[in-house]
Amino acid sequence: MAIRKIITPPNPLLKQPSLKVQEVDDNIRALIRDMFDTMYAAPGIGLAAVQVGEPLSIIVMDIHSGDKDKEPRPYAMINPEVVWASDNKVTYQEGCLSVPDVYDEVERPAEVKVRWLDEQGNEREQLFTGLEAVCVQHEIDHTKGILFVDYLSRLKRERYLKKVIKRAQQEMTS
Ligand code: NI
Repeated sequence: MAIRKIITPPNPLLKQPSLKVQEVDDNIRALIRDMFDTMYAAPGIGLAAVQVGEPLSIIVMDIHSGDKDKEPRPYAMINPEVVWASDNKVTYQEGCLSVPDVYDEVERPAEVKVRWLDEQGNEREQLFTGLEAVCVQHEIDHTKGILFVDYLSRLKRERYLKKVIKRAQQEMTS
């Protein structure tokens, strides 16, 4: 069990597309375990490998993370891809473990079908709705170097960038 450090802007890795995993091996499975440990410890409902400094196309998700009254719903997805998205949209207040203290509304397709490789290297495909649809799209965006703040209006992005600069300055002086 290992909890990894979660990177934050302006770390340039967060803006870079992740590499596809060529072979699902023990190193990949160990990384996925660390990602789950890190996500549950935060706690957060989703995490992409790039957020722990590994720019590989891998995400983990559990919308019941941090809720002891609910059964876990863990997903680990290697090379995930949205293969279908609904026309109807949903707006949800999003946050991100890599973007502390920023929460804002993002509009996305309400339902998506996702294809990925599981931890055994088998191809899987599933339709996601509700919060899982939002979360899986947010995490797949990370594998493309996209942060949810990239969808915000210019005014809101400027406010967010000020926070990033302020936090970076505080880290340098502390
Ligand atoms: Ni995120």
